[in-house]
Amino acid sequence: MAYRVQYKCPVCGLPLELQTRSLHCEKNHNFDQSRSGYVNLLLAQHKQSRQPGDADEMVMARQRFLEQGYYLALAQGLEQILIQIMQKRSRAEGFQLLDVGCGEGYYLQQLSQLLSKTGLSLQLAGIDISKKAIHEHAKRRLGVQLAVASAKDLPYFEHEFDLLLSIFSPVYLEEAARVLKDDGILMMVGPGKTHLKGLMQAIYTDVFEHRGNYAELAQSPLFQWQDTIEIIQEITVAGSDILDLLTMTPYYWHTPPEQKMHLETMSELKTPIHFQIQTYFKTKQQDLK
Ligand SMILES: C[S@@+](CC[C@H](N)C(=O)[O-])C[C@H]1O[C@@H](n2cnc3c(N)ncnc32)[C@H](O)[C@@H]1O
Ligand SMILES: [Zn+2]
Repeated sequence: MAYRVQYKCPVCGLPLELQTRSLHCEKNHNFDQSRSGYVNLLLAQHKQSRQPGDADEMVMARQRFLEQGYYLALAQGLEQILIQIMQKRSRAEGFQLLDVGCGEGYYLQQLSQLLSKTGLSLQLAGIDISKKAIHEHAKRRLGVQLAVASAKDLPYFEHEFDLLLSIFSPVYLEEAARVLKDDGILMMVGPGKTHLKGLMQAIYTDVFEHRGNYAELAQSPLFQWQDTIEIIQEITVAGSDILDLLTMTPYYWHTPPEQKMHLETMSELKTPIHFQIQTYFKTKQQDLK
């Protein structure tokens, strides 16, 4: 069976064809499909470290935390926006979405469950540079086309996707624009100003406001900003979920052991969660010249 979106050989750039659980190109570069159906297209020379991306413990902490439903409001917000977009742009062949830096799959699972009730045809693909994250994602058996790959070097040909989603993950704008269709959409989710303020207050003496990660996009001619939606909620994180929350964020690396122990003794933590969903349209080719 072929993949819905054709993969590009990361070695030579030719199309990859699937034959008996192995992808191969005309020049005989081969990539085996795992038992759970993902492919590893990350070349050793593209790895910045032995284990690129989030560490395994971060992936597992994020999975445990998200499965408790603390960020459900974000999944629901994304669903609403997607339904609106898909209803506006009906596509006979279905709507192709790529989650860049998709992690262990909580959001794509939520989106496919939520959207299955609408009858809209959404086809999902995801890449992440962490093999552990993709392995965990594939175990969900959602029918998502999954690959271990870098956002810097997406393993697809031009104009394949209607929408690219990035939830707290790095995006390389030229690559994003390359694989998007001409009327494609880039949706970036990042922290709003008060995101996890309660967690920061518990571990730092100085609390700073998040500035988000949109500065590069605001200056790029490749995309045009369309819309910002903020989701703000107060959550109460219980028991061991507090340490999982810390472990899944970059704060983990900057938190001294005594502060981690302090978090372990807390029975609950109240904190705002604050997400910004920014939508950008790919700039039309004629407007770039
Ligand atoms: C903060 S996590 C978010 C994961 C997921 N989007 C979520 O919200 O649950 C960032 C993810 O980006 C991945 N990542 C980091 N650098 C990457 C790159 N260059 N290409 C692809 N993924 C990358 C990490 O492995 C990690 O899974
Ligand atoms: Zn090849």
